[in-house]
Amino acid sequence: MGFRQDFLWGGATAANQCEGGYNEGGRGLANVDVVPIGPDRFPVITGQMKMFDFDDEHFYPAKVAIDMYHRYKEDIALFAEMGFKVYRLSIAWSRIFPKGDELEPNEEGLKYYEDLFKECKKYGIEPLVTITHFDCPMHLIKEYGAWRNRQLVEFYERLCTVIFNRYKGLVKYWLTFNEINMILHAPFMGAGLYFEEGDNQEQVKYQAAHHELVASAIATKIAHEVDPENKVGCMLAAGAYYPYTCKPEDVWESRKSDRENYFFIDVQARGKYPNYVLKELERKGITIEMQPGDEELLKAHTVDFVSFSYYSTRVATADALEETQGNIFASVKNPYLKASEWGWQIDPLGLRITLNDIYDRYQKPLFIVENGLGAVDVPDEAGYVADDYRIEYLASHIQAMKDAVELDGVDLLGYTTWGCIDLVSAGTGEMKKRYGFIYVDRDNEGNGSLKRTKKKSFDWYKKVIASNGEDLAMN
Ligand code: BG6
Repeated sequence: MGFRQDFLWGGATAANQCEGGYNEGGRGLANVDVVPIGPDRFPVITGQMKMFDFDDEHFYPAKVAIDMYHRYKEDIALFAEMGFKVYRLSIAWSRIFPKGDELEPNEEGLKYYEDLFKECKKYGIEPLVTITHFDCPMHLIKEYGAWRNRQLVEFYERLCTVIFNRYKGLVKYWLTFNEINMILHAPFMGAGLYFEEGDNQEQVKYQAAHHELVASAIATKIAHEVDPENKVGCMLAAGAYYPYTCKPEDVWESRKSDRENYFFIDVQARGKYPNYVLKELERKGITIEMQPGDEELLKAHTVDFVSFSYYSTRVATADALEETQGNIFASVKNPYLKASEWGWQIDPLGLRITLNDIYDRYQKPLFIVENGLGAVDVPDEAGYVADDYRIEYLASHIQAMKDAVELDGVDLLGYTTWGCIDLVSAGTGEMKKRYGFIYVDRDNEGNGSLKRTKKKSFDWYKKVIASNGEDLAMN
């Protein structure tokens, strides 16, 4: 009973939210670097406001982030102390191909990740690598229009060929695109897309999504060819939609909202465009340009497992009701749920529901690669954070996933909490929104020593891992 013996416990980060070192080691500039903190962030990440370079008016938190670029050994040692079996991180594309369209990779960037993976292996930690976590080299955005251009598939293929060969034997678990459905909600941050006047934005987004889906299938193909041991997953920003009432119109609205997200995974896990999306696109007058062979590629190279992030469920209604925000996704407020300080609604049972929905739909092994609570932490005089609220959040979600495994028979490979060390928030750019077991001394304005301090949740998670999820008690 309980979790499998080889259950992969760990934590997750993304390059642009923790590395910093934005101009070191030959790295090129990317979309994620030029997203500022403050009121202009939202228009920039949604592609409505163009920001292709730094200016003096804004503060760009990704430039330094938590400086993991220089401190990864210290951080991985702390992960190892907690007993991590897996560490999910992402590769910064522009460290490997600074512009994105070069024929030869940047050796310094390749070496950086090779050393990092070896550091993980030293402690028996399995790296789980996201090939792109929202990032796209700026040169590809300026010169090619990012993923709206089919040529991106070729550049991504080159990136994959290089990293699969170079890290053969070091990395076995890969994710092709972080939260691939985010392209519909935050197109600049998610895929480097921005819009010109007169653009049919829906058309651009779905065409770009097709390119990513093809690229993902090609990546899966190459990963398996290079090393049959490789396991490739897709990654969804998940969270089931509930109908606001049992009124059939509300139920229908919730189904439609779910399918808007499942569409991507339907293609990646089942190998073809589902009829509902083809019909929907036809009604909207959107034509996806496909090349000969695309359908065969999608069919032949489906993913080995389905991964997802889970923070909250969402609520849909056919009526015009007040909405709240949760991870970019607008949702009607659920009157039965409490919310975080950022308004993200907290629903552990929703994780069990989501796990079941996804498992029923795809019948492939699942991996929860993000889950956690963004909260304001206040250290005491000694710098210690007693984050009981975070422990409570994580314990209730782990219990829910345990129920899904034990009672419902969901096949779950592992669990990586989001932001296992404090890092820059993707949505708001804040440092104040903390998720970690490890406190990092840095604030929203970039002040602080960057010193790392263990929080109360550090020892708690260590105990959870050591007991393979059996001991979830607070103390
Ligand atoms: C997911 C992303 O959307 O949610 C992460 O994959 C992100 O990059 C996480 O950090 C939490 O969101 P936020 O806005 O609180 O950082």
